[in-house]
Amino acid sequence: MKHLIDPTDLTKEEIDQIVALAEDIIAHRERYQGSMAHKKLATLFYEPSTRTRLSFTAAMMELGGNVLGFSNPQNSSAAKGETVQDTVRVVGCFADIIAMRHPVEGAPLVASEVSNVPIINAGDGSHSHPTQTLTDLLTIKRELGHIDDITIGFCGDLRFGRTVHSLIKALSRYRGIKVVLIAPDELRLPDYIKQDVCDKMGVAYRETDSLDEAIPELDVLYMTRVQKERFLDEDEFDRVKDSFVLDNRRMALAKEKMAVLHPLPRVNEILTEVDDDPRAAYFRQVENGKLVRMALIISLMEWKNDPAHTMPEHEAPVLNPSLHCTNAKCICNNEKHERRFRLAENGIYRCWYCDSKVR
Ligand code: NCD
Repeated sequence: MKHLIDPTDLTKEEIDQIVALAEDIIAHRERYQGSMAHKKLATLFYEPSTRTRLSFTAAMMELGGNVLGFSNPQNSSAAKGETVQDTVRVVGCFADIIAMRHPVEGAPLVASEVSNVPIINAGDGSHSHPTQTLTDLLTIKRELGHIDDITIGFCGDLRFGRTVHSLIKALSRYRGIKVVLIAPDELRLPDYIKQDVCDKMGVAYRETDSLDEAIPELDVLYMTRVQKERFLDEDEFDRVKDSFVLDNRRMALAKEKMAVLHPLPRVNEILTEVDDDPRAAYFRQVENGKLVRMALIISLMEWKNDPAHTMPEHEAPVLNPSLHCTNAKCICNNEKHERRFRLAENGIYRCWYCDSKVR
């Protein structure tokens, strides 16, 4: 069964096919109107969302399909203590494909292990957000004409921002990508992305705490919201919440063709005065999100049982009972699951479900 839990569950060729299909949908909307007739998408959202849930819904509707699900887990059997795996087994009896957002990291992965229909991860904790990544790639392609050979600056909350983690993973497979990480010390990119993705894949990156210094060299500026809901310490959040603000003064330092992306919602990291700048691509990005999700739904429904489109092969997990995942928000610390680990770069063990360091 083909699922999308992590961006690397798709090969680079599959990603390029989905992006190309989205571009074909843009050119020939009418051809795709009935392609999901009599099919049902379930949206299981255990965490707040506007764009992602509505864009999945709009995508399925534009394809002629139907949508069911919940956006408040308090109204679902999760409130009675049902496990994620039981819920997807049940929903798989009603729906042909499932999009799931969950605050617990690794929840969509364990769902995919028992599901008889494709599972799409619509965001798990601070971990991954692969459909936002497809959105971002389509946006970069449409704004700049290419994805290879770009310098991209990620600015803001690189620690908890799952959209950043997933996009860097996906970009690491393109040619000539340079990454500039613009964040205060407290919000730096997690080591597992730096080591297991950038170092391993040979992506050139550097870190800075100055947006003014970085902005002139960028082809893409990826702004992010400081993820208040992921902080355990409110004082720490207050210290960093206004770290970087994009305004017209800073836009004047940037290239004429730079594209500004933001997964949204924004809080105050981009002033509204920037919205009229032709380089502000974040509202166009929202529409791309619906288009690329249309392409993804069509592709997964086509590929789900096709032996040419399997899930990637991973090395067998390490099952060492003396290892412990240190992440309180990991599925293995919230539900009963086999404790699994993988041996990462530099001989470090990481949790199979959430990539956190292991004790
Ligand atoms: C992002 C998310 O949920 O991770 N939003 C989205 O899906 N478009 C970013 C965020 O919440 O800041």
